[in-house]
Amino acid sequence: MDNRLDLAGKVALVTGSSRGIGAGIVRGLAARGGKCVVNYVEDRDGRNHAEAQAVASGLQDAIVLQCDVGDPAQVDGMMDQVRQRLGGLDILVNNAGILRDRTLKKITPQDWEDVLRINLSGVFNCTRSAVPLLRPGGRVVNIASVSAFLGVYGQANYAAAKAGVLGLTKVTARELAKQGITVNAVAPGVIDTEMTRSLTPEAMKHLLDQIPLGRAGTVDEVVHAVTFLCSPASGYITGQVLHVNGGILMA
Ligand code: NAI
Repeated sequence: MDNRLDLAGKVALVTGSSRGIGAGIVRGLAARGGKCVVNYVEDRDGRNHAEAQAVASGLQDAIVLQCDVGDPAQVDGMMDQVRQRLGGLDILVNNAGILRDRTLKKITPQDWEDVLRINLSGVFNCTRSAVPLLRPGGRVVNIASVSAFLGVYGQANYAAAKAGVLGLTKVTARELAKQGITVNAVAPGVIDTEMTRSLTPEAMKHLLDQIPLGRAGTVDEVVHAVTFLCSPASGYITGQVLHVNGGILMA
């Protein structure tokens, strides 16, 4: 059987994988044989740590590493741990992200900084620090958003950060191509996670009304796209954006 989705022996790090889409991705990669690093960021009540441990305990061979992707020193520390404990890296999925939605009338410089620091600089920090560890044939997948294309109302910071991720994806794809490493983005639409549950019912209805498939997507539907781009089956695809959005944007 042609098993080009097999990830046996591949070391994979998924940022922000204590819950939501990241937790789904880490489970999906592990189900195909990947040795996974579950990354979480420390929070006051220890919830992220507990959830990361719970995700890892359901997987074979997974380790848990704390790191705020927006802090370059912490990211370097995490990659050092990956090198020491796992010997290198085959797959990096830059998934960690936050929302701080506010219209331009209400948004604060701090809302702008926070989202740019985590959603854009976080991808830069992790990719830059992972490059020396990534082995030939490696994969980088960046989680962008349909917001970068639609400019969703109230998401100036988020849309700008995700548009930046798309530019960064293309440059990284070009620079890592010689090592046979592919770099792509997945741009989800409205996916049912804690992030979208924080939207007001009106904002949610407004979004759902625009989706030809008439519903939000599931975490699994994003996971399938990411798993494909992490696998040997996608070897000739690089610098691309894969849209998983129920048709809300037809690029
Ligand atoms: P979520 O809020 O459920 O999960 C986000 C994860 O990122 C959490 O585990 C959180 O702890 C982690 N995180 C936050 N800040 C971090 C930091 N500084 N360092 C490390 N980890 C950090 O969100 P969801 O929905 O799972 O989103 C995952 C990715 O998908 C994000 O990049 C998001 O922007 C993107 N996305 C989500 C969509 C949706 O509809 N849910 C749509 C389009 C994109």
